[in-house]
Order: sequence, then structure tokens, then C-alpha cells
Amino acid sequence: MSVPAEKQIAFPVLPQIDQQQLDEAWSKAARQGADYAPGEREALRTRIKQLLQEQDAVLVAHYYTSDDLQQLAEETGGYVADSLEMARFGNEHPASTLVVAGVFFMGETAKILNPEKRVLMPDSGATCSLDLECPAELFSAFCDAHPEYTSVVYANTSAAVKARADWVVTSGIALPIIQHLAERKEKVLWAPDRHLGSYVQQQTGVEMLIWPGSCVVHERFKAEGIRKLQQRYPQAQVLVHPESPAEVVALADVVGSTTGLIKASLNPAVQQFIVATEPGIFYKMKQASPTKLFLEAPGGGLGGSCESCLRCPWMAMNGLRNLAEVLESGANEITIAEDIRRKALIPIKRMLEFARRHQLAIRGQGNA
Ligand code: 13P
Ligand code: SF4
Repeated sequence: MSVPAEKQIAFPVLPQIDQQQLDEAWSKAARQGADYAPGEREALRTRIKQLLQEQDAVLVAHYYTSDDLQQLAEETGGYVADSLEMARFGNEHPASTLVVAGVFFMGETAKILNPEKRVLMPDSGATCSLDLECPAELFSAFCDAHPEYTSVVYANTSAAVKARADWVVTSGIALPIIQHLAERKEKVLWAPDRHLGSYVQQQTGVEMLIWPGSCVVHERFKAEGIRKLQQRYPQAQVLVHPESPAEVVALADVVGSTTGLIKASLNPAVQQFIVATEPGIFYKMKQASPTKLFLEAPGGGLGGSCESCLRCPWMAMNGLRNLAEVLESGANEITIAEDIRRKALIPIKRMLEFARRHQLAIRGQGNA
């Protein structure tokens, strides 16, 4: 169902992500790169392992962080996962400190679900373009202007935006929740990712107002480049995250969340994959299927030190050096005002309860 034109023009003007913000992120990321002095990497790994133990801390890392961090999380009894599973793992794990290697909203979500725990991040300035493009005051005013719509926000938003929303979803559970709302004849105000919003609207036919935000990484995948790669690798399956543009999603054999795409890569009948999501995901894909071929879907670079690849500049700000520093100093602890935390918990719990009632694993949705 198309969105009435008069509804589209009511959207606020969003803050623009400029090159300076990306350059700043890349210059911080460069300090976390792999240019270790001889012995430095191993010394950092040893020190971090010791600090985690001393401080009753556990490391939870997102699939988009560096191989070093994912490996360390695995070796120390931590966890590598998507954003929501990171928070759920933290909730179940007995450690009193959670160290979240990812972007800021992931640290916040961990704190919302685990208020009694100390939540640290290697760099609390690691943001996300979706979060930046959805300031709480603009979102709240937009909700006020459209009270007849049920508000559904993606997990990639601030605690304050979640606190104003009726539902929180991740890419893995967006489709069944929107389908559920469609069956109840509810109209949906969706924020902030326009590509994921369009995808779920197209799949469910629900009436939706779609916030015009986007992910600076996924937006850059190019259908033309993928088609060319498909000609060279005709046996390859195309795996696409639904934050990508519609013309890229249209080429997908599987559209899925990060966990969904990893699951799809396990298909024993397929040996080659073209993958349109942040390349940090290759660590887990190659670990599970070392003999398979995984190809990065082509796209434009994001500047900084990573001209040719599609790494998320904010995820790349996490590294062994600042992880060791934060464990030493206790800096970058996440705090959330209690009234915001309590309100944000409601739509998150609604999602978790929906998943439980429908016996859906939030992770591992093959088709987002
Ligand atoms: P997940 O919710 O799958 O962790 O994805 C988060 C993200 O940032 C995707 O770009
Ligand atoms: Fe945000 Fe995109 Fe980075 Fe994910 S990949 S954290 S959506 S900017």
C-alpha cells in the first residue's frame, strides 16, 4: 500500500551525516587498527584476559567488530552475536560487568535490560547513522503529530527514542511483528531505516509512515556491481541485509538479519556466497564454513582509511587497545536516566514477549 503524499511531506528534516563525522570515526578507528608493534597484540590479549577475570567482566562483541575482538570474546567465555542477543546474553550471564564491543545503542540496550550491572564500552563515541538521523525530540514530535499510528522503532536507536515507541524490533523479528500489527489493522509509524521499512511494508502490505533514515554502510551496496559478480560466480547465492536499497534486496536469494545471513551461509548445498552486509560478518561465516567462498558485495567506499571496503566506521572504533584501556580505567560506563530506562524497557520487553509467545528465536530468522 502506498503512503499518501500529504503524509510524506510531514517528515522532519533529519540531521545530515557529513564527511567530517565519518573522517573522525575513521581516524579513531585507525588507532585501533592492526598495526601492532612486535608482541603488542599478544600482550594486549593477555592483559585483557587477566582484567576480565579480575573484574568479573564478560566481553560481548557484535558480528561487525574486528576478528580480534570476536576471537577474544569466544576465548574468554563471552559471546559474539547480533545486537539483541548481545543484551540477552548479558542478562543471563552472572558477570557483574558487561563489556560491549559494538556501537552505542548496543551498550544502552544492555544497560536497559541489565540495570544492576556495570556496562562498559571501548569507545562510547561509536555511534550509528540510524541513531544520529533519529533524534528523540524530532521523533517524539512526529509521533505526537500522528497519534493514530503505532510506533515501531528499530533497535538501532537511542534509549530516548525507544522510550517513546510502542514497539522495538530488530531486523530478525521486524517482519512477524509488522505482520501481527497488520492483522490487527494497525497503521505503523516506522523509524528510522527507510530501506528496512520499505521492505517490511512491501512484504506485509501494512499502511506505514516510514522515517527517511538509512545506514551509511548498507546504503552503498550497488545492484550493478552485484550483477557483474553474479556473472563471474553464477553458482553463488546472494545474501542481503534488508538495510540495503530495494534494488539490491531484489537480487537476494536470502534477505536476513545478521544472524539470519550467517545461518543461510551454513546451507550445505551452496559453496559460494556474495554477501551484502558489513564484512565483519565474514569472521563467523568462514569459521563455520572454512572451505566456502565468501565474496564482498561491491559498493562505494566510506572514506578514511577504508577507501575500498564497506566497514562500518563506528564499529571499527572498537579495538584491543581501547578495550584494555577501558578495563584499566573503568571509563565509558553507560548510564541511562531511570525514567527513560523504564520506559524504553517496555517496548523491548514487548518484543521479547512476542518472540516467546510465537516461539520465535529472535536470532536466526532466515528471512528478515
Ligand atoms: P543486528 O541487529 O543484526 O545486530 O544488526 C545491527 C546493525 O547495525 C545492522 O547494520
Ligand atoms: Fe549503524 Fe549501519 Fe554501522 Fe549497523 S552498519 S551500526 S546500521 S551505521
